[in-house]
Amino acid sequence: MLVWKKEFEFGIPAIDDQHKRLIEIGGSMFELVNDDTRDDYFDEIVAMLKELENYTVNHFRDEEALFDAVGYVGSMAHKFEHKIFVKKLETFMSDLDAVDSNQKETLLNLLNFIADWLVLHIVKTDREYVPLLLAAQK
Ligand SMILES: [Fe+2]
Repeated sequence: MLVWKKEFEFGIPAIDDQHKRLIEIGGSMFELVNDDTRDDYFDEIVAMLKELENYTVNHFRDEEALFDAVGYVGSMAHKFEHKIFVKKLETFMSDLDAVDSNQKETLLNLLNFIADWLVLHIVKTDREYVPLLLAAQK
């Protein structure tokens, strides 16, 4: 289950709020995947993909601007992880016919990918720039 946890919090509100929203989008996906009352939720999947894409592009841009402003040495590798994430979303978006004909499977794939990536990225990759950002805020 994809829910916000205390360990995700950095004490940097601009980033924490965006991460919360990302986890929320993941949570809606989880609800959708467990909704057995119907079998067509193509529109919702596409809406979520779009929201996720827009949202992560903005979030990554903000985050990168913050850590670049303090000269974070892991900047390149971190940006690369962001790129891979956006690419993966684009892969889903590029074949909406496949999404339509395999909705449940797509949703499960997407959910697995998002859950793993978000949690690992937030607790590991993102956490690495936190001390530097917090020190710069003082
Ligand atoms: Fe990040």
